[in-house]
Amino acid sequence: MLRQSLSVLRIQQRKLNRIGRVWSAAAFSTSPLAPPRTPAHPPRIPQVINPPALLSSHFTPPIHTTTTTTVHTTAAIHTTANIMTAPPVLRIGVAGAGRMGRIHIENILSLSRVTVTAVCTVLPHEIEWAKSVLGPEGVVTPDYNEFVNLPNVDAVLLVTPTGFHKDQVFGALKAGKHVLCEKPIAGNPADAWAVYYESLKYPNLKVACAFPRRYASVFVEAARRIKNGEIGEVTTLRSQTTDLYQNDEFLINYIKHSGGIFVDCTIHDIDACLYLLGKDVLPTSAYGTGSANLFPQFKEFGDVDDALGLVNLDGDKTVMNVYGSRNNRHGHHTMTEIMGTKGRILINGQPRLLQVDISDETGTRMIGAKSHMELFTEAFKLEIEGFRDWILDGTEAHFNLKDAAKAVSIAYSLMESLRSKHSVDIALPGPSA
Ligand SMILES: NC(=O)c1ccc[n+]([C@@H]2O[C@H](COP(=O)([O-])OP(=O)(O)OC[C@H]3O[C@@H](n4cnc5c(N)ncnc54)[C@H](O)[C@@H]3O)[C@@H](O)[C@H]2O)c1
Repeated sequence: MLRQSLSVLRIQQRKLNRIGRVWSAAAFSTSPLAPPRTPAHPPRIPQVINPPALLSSHFTPPIHTTTTTTVHTTAAIHTTANIMTAPPVLRIGVAGAGRMGRIHIENILSLSRVTVTAVCTVLPHEIEWAKSVLGPEGVVTPDYNEFVNLPNVDAVLLVTPTGFHKDQVFGALKAGKHVLCEKPIAGNPADAWAVYYESLKYPNLKVACAFPRRYASVFVEAARRIKNGEIGEVTTLRSQTTDLYQNDEFLINYIKHSGGIFVDCTIHDIDACLYLLGKDVLPTSAYGTGSANLFPQFKEFGDVDDALGLVNLDGDKTVMNVYGSRNNRHGHHTMTEIMGTKGRILINGQPRLLQVDISDETGTRMIGAKSHMELFTEAFKLEIEGFRDWILDGTEAHFNLKDAAKAVSIAYSLMESLRSKHSVDIALPGPSA
């Protein structure tokens, strides 16, 4: 009886192996996004079920079927239908486990069909944290070259200091990995455009710059209505990112290396406006100004605590007005207004985090967001899901790498204008830059 059962199991196992091979071949031949099957670009999306996935809760893909308690019995218990419906899982390696990196890692581990298989980070306490979160199957290393060449990494998410972005994107592309890179895409316009042009050399790899507003439901809804022509032709955009006032050491140290308010903070507004416009506009000139009354020490770094920027797009056809501040007393307030020839759309007019208002003897007050991270909590997850679906399913994504490069050019032109007190003509570097 035992011998008979074992023989049935062996037959089932052989059948499953065969099905697995057919399934994976089909997956790769039909996917428009799959890289060419050459030794230089081996298949990277896991097929059927990734064996380590069965060992750890973090690595468990959502199998739409019965599961089993031990790895040894799994193959015997899964039916053909089980295997065929197991979705592929995008295996992401995350570089940088600091402030934003941790948020991304925890988000990814909470989502389906995507997981973190490796982390590259340099600080000892971050390495320990990443090991504890990934478990024994995860690879944690400070060596970017080793990390980016790991065979169990399909895509990398770069959450490292901006100055590393360009070289790390280049390294990832060379290693045949898809890339999602935190904003700004690079530390200066020449590098940003170099990333854009380099990405064009890898048509089988997806390269994106992460801006959460492109996945925040209110921005997505506004973009859809603008595309539908509901407000006519867009003539003017006004967008602001105002951060909660914090007079602490972290902020002062942060400002020293941030690249300036337009580059670090207002770049979210610049990219949001480009996203809402939904077309390939040409930024032509920029004028930036601002003041540093609350943090006069920011002037030492050529920065301000309140900044206003005016940007012409396509000559004088469209005007973008951005406002950034580090002085908001009531919390974080991101707001965007789009004026068209037939109407207007206002996004986040109130600094509201939740649709819950509190009324008492002092009046009525809303619950506001304390930070950008808090306001866009959901959008950060949707952004990862958008990246996952883009790669695994070929779903259209909201990312736009050319806009990301334009945003760097605009932000640097605004900083240059702020420092020189002159309007700056924006020149976009070409492919050889
Ligand atoms: N989208 C957003 O809202 C948002 C918010 C914050 C930060 N960011 C962006 O995320 C990036 C990181 O910002 P942060 O605030 O998390 O910075 P951070 O300093 O908190 O973290 C940087 C991380 O990179 C690691 N690191 C440094 N050098 C490295 C290297 N050579 N290889 C691998 N890892 C390295 C550090 O150990 C650290 O874990 C920046 O580009 C920033 O602009 C985006």
